[in-house]
Amino acid sequence: MCGIVGYIGHREAYPIVIEGLKRLEYRGYDSAGIALFDGTDLKVSKTKGKVSDLEERVETQISKSGNLGIGHTRWATHGVPNDVNSHPHVSNSGDLVIIHNGIIENYESLKKELIKRGYTFKSDTDTEVLINLIEEVKTIEGVKLGKAVQIALNQVVGAYAIAVFDKNKPEEVVVARLGSPLAVGIGEDEFFIASDASPFIEYTKNAIYLEDEEMAIIRFHKGIKVRKIKDDSLVDPYIQELQLNLEQIEKGGYEHFMLKEIHEQPKAITDTFRGRLLRDEAIIKMGGIEDNMKKFLNANRIIIVACGTSWHAGLVAEYIFEDLARIPVEVEYASEFRYRNPVITENDVLIAISQSGETADTLAAIKMAKSKGAFVFGVCNVVGSSIARESDAGAYTHAGPEIGVASTKAFTTQITVLSLIALRLARAKGTISSSDFRRYLLEMEMIPEKVEKALESDAHIQEVSEIYKDAANFLYLGRGYNFPVALEGALKLKEISYIHAEGYPAAEMKHGPIALIDENMPIVVIATKAEHYDKVISNIQEIKSRKGKIIGVITEGDTIVRDLADHVIEVPDTIEALSPLLTTIPLQLLSYHIAVMLDKNVDQPRNLAKSVTVE
Ligand code: F6R
Repeated sequence: MCGIVGYIGHREAYPIVIEGLKRLEYRGYDSAGIALFDGTDLKVSKTKGKVSDLEERVETQISKSGNLGIGHTRWATHGVPNDVNSHPHVSNSGDLVIIHNGIIENYESLKKELIKRGYTFKSDTDTEVLINLIEEVKTIEGVKLGKAVQIALNQVVGAYAIAVFDKNKPEEVVVARLGSPLAVGIGEDEFFIASDASPFIEYTKNAIYLEDEEMAIIRFHKGIKVRKIKDDSLVDPYIQELQLNLEQIEKGGYEHFMLKEIHEQPKAITDTFRGRLLRDEAIIKMGGIEDNMKKFLNANRIIIVACGTSWHAGLVAEYIFEDLARIPVEVEYASEFRYRNPVITENDVLIAISQSGETADTLAAIKMAKSKGAFVFGVCNVVGSSIARESDAGAYTHAGPEIGVASTKAFTTQITVLSLIALRLARAKGTISSSDFRRYLLEMEMIPEKVEKALESDAHIQEVSEIYKDAANFLYLGRGYNFPVALEGALKLKEISYIHAEGYPAAEMKHGPIALIDENMPIVVIATKAEHYDKVISNIQEIKSRKGKIIGVITEGDTIVRDLADHVIEVPDTIEALSPLLTTIPLQLLSYHIAVMLDKNVDQPRNLAKSVTVE
């Protein structure tokens, strides 16, 4: 939700900030803006639309010179996306300028107070309130900018990652964070500020990730000082060496990030296995699990919390944990769980799944469960993210940066990690025989190759997409391990093509959704060879007698469904518990091709953002 970028140093700030905003556009893309200072003038340009619209506007509006600059790409919370509500926001005096990712929850009462004191507001945003609050504190208390920011933030309720500067003191930028990520890149006498490290990766490999409730005063030629916002104590910041490289955040010849990320799955899953799946030794090794084995083995139950696609991965995990490790599992939407006073005890293990590691609801659910004594295990993709840090222990998915807003490789690598955990626990509990365990390890090792094979259906999936791209509705059906995959397939189609789609357990169809079926309804049925294969065949027959169009996702070589369905897409055979890793692939490609054919913005679908840091 919103991306922020800043630069202070000896280079021209404009190209760094603009390029950085493009890399952060996955975080929000309904408006964008920039503020530059060239030693004399503060220049602000902002617009509704994308960073490319901002670039055009800058050409006619301001000069691009200046060694100090901040920029913002927005996902609207307070106030519709328009030019005025876009960031940066400037204080009433015209001296102070701010960019902000997050929400100031008590902005209305603060605004009323400021209006009483004569402040006026141009925008509907909470951010304009914050910059004027900082100005008011600075004037009344006669303090420097850093102190004013600190005092103001102590009056604020909400979440923020901010960067602020004063045009009268352009050698200094003040940044702060609570609940929204903020990284500071440390170069040779230059500093970069960003929501993640991608905007500055070609300039420096050294970065400080601010912790919640920390602020930093960054001074050109003088360095950086980090403090606690609450008690002003100095913090010795940890300078992290970044592992990210430029190639990982570029499209690498693909038309869209989503397509690149779909095709990266064999490698991503291999990376997830690395050092963990040791087939020759017949072991699974995961530090976070080994160190906390007792917690897992003594757990009354595992509660999985997540949102969206990550929640679907949690549903797959429920099947595999219960099936193999015989541990009761509950899967919860983080947003519901956190607000419904759930019964949590010290014997519960909570697994939080999140690609970004920043999802506000999931983070809040963790904090709540921790406060009630539960042990929290995080499954995140983004290293060092808030959820990863807040968890008692965890396992990274190692999928690499996922930039397309629709999650693909994050989903399959989450399932991979969760399957490894389930197997490891099953082995420790003795609920799986050693021969079955070995069979799983062998099969898992072959998954990347099989995903590669599933990707070979791409051209055929394009043909199917062409036939159904104009359908108004889609139904996705699956049973058992593939019921969550049906949900995920429907979500993918909805979010990038804006076609209405429902995912359902195949057997539930007759309790309602069957009424939707007519000759215009495409129904994607995951009908791979599995325990309930015969039952799925019956469901297919029921659809056929109501003239629905069947797109079957089938096991390679299956002729039964091939004869029944209108179209089939084959995936290689595997153990049922691992089949979601393969059946997901055609559904990702189907939604991708339909969205491209409908000329939708695949990587940045409307109204969405990659990292949902608001509740
Ligand atoms: C769908 C999608 C979202 C996310 C959800 C949770 O393609 O990407 O549904 O899965 O917003 O995000 P994370 O996993 O970052 O917590």
